[in-house]
Amino acid sequence: RTVYLNGDYLPETEAKVSIFDRGFLMGDGVYEVTSVLDGKILEFAGHMARLTRSLAELGMGNPLSEEEWLEAHRQLVARNEVTEGMVYLQVTRGNPGDRDFAYPPEDTPQTVVMFTQSKPGLADNPQAKTGVRVISLPDLRWSRRDIKTVQLLYPSMAKMEAKAKGVDDAWLVEDGFVTEGTSNNTYIVKDGKIITRQLSTDILHGITRSSLLRYAAEAQMQIEERPFTIAEAQAADEAFFTSASAFVMPVVEVDGVTLGAGKPGPVATRLRELYLEESR
Ligand code: PDD
Repeated sequence: RTVYLNGDYLPETEAKVSIFDRGFLMGDGVYEVTSVLDGKILEFAGHMARLTRSLAELGMGNPLSEEEWLEAHRQLVARNEVTEGMVYLQVTRGNPGDRDFAYPPEDTPQTVVMFTQSKPGLADNPQAKTGVRVISLPDLRWSRRDIKTVQLLYPSMAKMEAKAKGVDDAWLVEDGFVTEGTSNNTYIVKDGKIITRQLSTDILHGITRSSLLRYAAEAQMQIEERPFTIAEAQAADEAFFTSASAFVMPVVEVDGVTLGAGKPGPVATRLRELYLEESR
């Protein structure tokens, strides 16, 4: 693979970052994952806006202009011949030359890393046809989940616990209500109404979520933005989650309880089609 490091395109084996990098020592960085379909970069403007916001919330500027980011995305997609897959980007506070809790001086160059992941069959994911199963786990992450930081240890632990239980993912619960999935936003459908948690610092402001809710509203579907419980999810007609890598993914089981007919429901199926049609 050809990867991007601080302005250079390099073979992945030659891209090296300091052991003192704040991303490595402190988890002091943010990231974005953008999907690619038919070689086209989806939702670019949305990912850029969220990146700038995440950086600003951590007191960092954006090291590249939107045009420079777009060029780097296009270069990597072309050089790696990605037709379906993702572009990952990460910006950290850079290398202060030593370990210190205090931030380094503001003129310390940030570290910018990008790479692609080819995922042939991304849009035709067979899991979308069967639906996936989830368990609930307590949400033990920090309370600024609206910032897309590289601190992903708890989501990884939760994912591993889900896998150990033989299911696909975990829905995280705080104060009795579902916040989101390990790496996705969560929804239930009851009597035709789409219910999803409202935006706050409790969840990541999903780019897929934002576009999907717009498409659903345009299609005259009913939407209610409020928190829901696991019991409500288990009693729902349907459930699903969204992310840049999963698009719209139907959920057919929550904590061992089968939803509806145990297969993807009509609303989730329609929303997946709608999202793929509109965004590609
Ligand atoms: N995850 N919530 C969390 C905690 C996430 O990590 C993600 C994305 C989302 C969905 O956001 P979007 O629709 O903008 O992808 C919600 C990415 C895909 C990842 O970490 O791989």
